[in-house]
Amino acid sequence: MIIAQISDSHLDPEAPNAVARLHALERCVADINRLDPGPDAVIHTGDITHNGTPEKYDTALRVLGQLRAPLHVAAGNRDDRALIAANFDTGRDLMPGTPFVQYSIDSYPVRLIALDTLSETSNLGDFCDVRARNLKRSLAEDASKPTALFMHHPPFEIPQSKFRFQFDDWDGVARMAEAMEGHGQVVRVFTGHAHRDASGMIAGVPAQSVPSVAIDLRLGTYSGAAEAAPVYFIHRFDGRIITETRIADQV
Ligand SMILES: [Fe+2]
Repeated sequence: MIIAQISDSHLDPEAPNAVARLHALERCVADINRLDPGPDAVIHTGDITHNGTPEKYDTALRVLGQLRAPLHVAAGNRDDRALIAANFDTGRDLMPGTPFVQYSIDSYPVRLIALDTLSETSNLGDFCDVRARNLKRSLAEDASKPTALFMHHPPFEIPQSKFRFQFDDWDGVARMAEAMEGHGQVVRVFTGHAHRDASGMIAGVPAQSVPSVAIDLRLGTYSGAAEAAPVYFIHRFDGRIITETRIADQV
């Protein structure tokens, strides 16, 4: 199975770099559509828009709607939970009757679970008891299939970042780790928010954040063709799990 991962497009017509951000997302979508073999699924790990309004999501949907592969989205702190749930394929709702956008896609060889890491009080991450209990229960439902978790905020330390900790406090990360313990089918954690390529571990599982699609918001060092082009990840699951950084428009 192949998953393309994009993140942090931060579409915003009011931003000084609005046109460039839109163009960066268009370039990623076109590039993903050109992949051969193409991905089985695309995940966007949040902050599709910058402070989402229905109009901003219309623009995002116009671009993301051109993807040939199915798209699944984790809500970012700049997104609107209700508009994410209303506009994107959020599979099987794991927490119906709550505001949390936590869901499972069970139809692929790798099960995908989107986690809601939004905080009520900040732009950082949070993972409360209710969401953690739900994750634990959801993982217990099916231990037979390799499972990847995807979410907006990285639940690991990023020492090279000005924002070393991406959660309100480390208790949220501890609750997530505790819910994952004993569920060996979880093989990878994919995140956004940090706007840079960074890796860590949670509950013994390798976790990685992808650079932002928005080039003006991207952090880290990019040289050669990557300097002026958006980048994204391709995750390949074929016995081994390999993540490759893809530079859009490179043949
Ligand atoms: Fe974010």
